[in-house]
Amino acid sequence: MFMARSIVAGNWKQNLEFYDASDLAGSLRVESFTSDEVVVCPPFPFIYDVSERLKDTGISLGAQDCSQYNGGAYTGEVSATMLKSLNVKYCILGHSERRQYFGDTSEILRVKFANARNAGLEVILCCGETLEVRKSGDHTAFVLRQLEEVMKDQDSQMLEDLVIAYEPIWAIGTGETASPEQAEEMHAAIRDFLKTKFGDPYAQDTPILYGGSVKPSNAAELFACKNIDGALVGGASLNALDFMQIASVS
Ligand code: PGA
Repeated sequence: MFMARSIVAGNWKQNLEFYDASDLAGSLRVESFTSDEVVVCPPFPFIYDVSERLKDTGISLGAQDCSQYNGGAYTGEVSATMLKSLNVKYCILGHSERRQYFGDTSEILRVKFANARNAGLEVILCCGETLEVRKSGDHTAFVLRQLEEVMKDQDSQMLEDLVIAYEPIWAIGTGETASPEQAEEMHAAIRDFLKTKFGDPYAQDTPILYGGSVKPSNAAELFACKNIDGALVGGASLNALDFMQIASVS
């Protein structure tokens, strides 16, 4: 019987300064974690220090993005191979903030996806609809299309170890969470989509995380849903106690 592992991942976004980030990483304690895997995704400049702070804790390291270019004269960019050389395990791709503010189209995401996989990184692929799309009733088709556009024509090796994060944009950083029913409905649709395309074992094995204002007070009811395998946590991951509490629920 296949079952996806549970993951709680913290996305620190563009927050904190060096010493705060270092302290936050240093104060994460794993003793009470019930989630199979805990991941933190710091801003690029803090990754090396955070990886030192997390040594021997069992907490994994993630990055928030990677370049569509593999190396060379691309000022300001950070390649997937650079991240791999810093012991980064995961790379978030397709976060709605990247899509909205930095022009990450499906075409660009396909290239980033290939770069990340070729470098040996595991991808946390984000998807999610705006409030407008949800109100139109087209949200499920919209989200599945987002996934399809990045995953299509990737060979099966590239799709190994994939993690999906469903993050309705109207719930990110707004304090408004999708109800467990709304989230579960989408997660079940994503699981079905994976099953149709890649077979049942693959679908059952792929962790599907929920993201959007997850906090200690709502994590339990979300994680109780059959198809929710954990969370991608923004704001609440900046507080060690809140983050640890969330990772102790799933
Ligand atoms: P939030 O962010 O938890 O602050 O809503 C989630 C995310 O964007 O990953």
